[in-house]
Amino acid sequence: MIVKDPVLLHQWHPVMISNDLKANPKSVEVLGEKVVVFRTTKGIHAFKDLCIHRGVPLSLGTVVDDEIVCPYHGWTYNACGVCTRIPALPKNQAIPSKAKVTAYYCTEAYGLVWVSLTKPEQDIPLIGDEKLDDLALARVLMGPYDVEAAGPRVIENFLDVSHLMFVHEGLLGDTQYAEINDYRVHNENGILVTDEIDVYQPDPDGRGYPVISKYTYKVYSPLTVSLMKITEESNDFFKLFLIVLPVNEQKSIAFMIMERNYALDDDPQVFIDFQNTLLEQDKIIVENQKPELLPLDLQAELHLVCDRLSIAYRKMLRESGVTFGTA
Ligand code: FES
Ligand SMILES: [Fe+2]
Repeated sequence: MIVKDPVLLHQWHPVMISNDLKANPKSVEVLGEKVVVFRTTKGIHAFKDLCIHRGVPLSLGTVVDDEIVCPYHGWTYNACGVCTRIPALPKNQAIPSKAKVTAYYCTEAYGLVWVSLTKPEQDIPLIGDEKLDDLALARVLMGPYDVEAAGPRVIENFLDVSHLMFVHEGLLGDTQYAEINDYRVHNENGILVTDEIDVYQPDPDGRGYPVISKYTYKVYSPLTVSLMKITEESNDFFKLFLIVLPVNEQKSIAFMIMERNYALDDDPQVFIDFQNTLLEQDKIIVENQKPELLPLDLQAELHLVCDRLSIAYRKMLRESGVTFGTA
């Protein structure tokens, strides 16, 4: 493995939507490592996507009787990655003990497939905390969004409140109301949490009602963040979680989970279409930022008071030792 980033290597990463993984194995990439994910009756599995025999991706193969079969010469691997069958081998010869593939950690949660390349040191991020069973809550899974940018760049864009009025003008902001009130970032048990930030929003969620939203951002880990929006006029809340898969240093896949406690019967597609529009707007910026890797040296760029959260995020990445996608 080329990547030397202990933090991200020991972390769960979302790799795809669960429903998109059917009978056939799928190829994904995590931290520059090609991974095959597949289903058996025993559950879900992730291996290095490389047959030990002649280097063919196992993702081109098939799943037969709960084992994955390489398409080239039929070598078959069980759920632990151990080769159980080499069709060309005479019956009286044992399968070499070296015939196995690296198995990774793999699980499903929140409608996503998650992979960790080494033993995960933290649980899967808790999405929606205590509200899991609250029936008066609508949850919408959004993505995958392919972004040609480093993971930390994608995350920082999400945490950047002063871009809303420009990149998302007419939707999440208005250039006439671009001023950002002062706010602080607090560390609450390792989670970065902002004070509320007021933003005038012509169309905060795709339904076309203007409000003044109060934003609270949270940073749970290097590639998992959220925002919550509330208004003074009601008890409605809108939460958006962003979890980014670091495909490699130039590429990411973003997944989002939205939770709201209002408009429960509205068609989820309204919210998905809206988020798709926002993502297209953000991609134009993020995919063109220089340097491509997020600079953790705070002297490298200019920061304003409204950038407090970006500063705190960069510090957090530096202190936790994240190197992948940063400079
Ligand atoms: S390359 Fe996989 S079986 Fe030969
Ligand atoms: Fe944005």
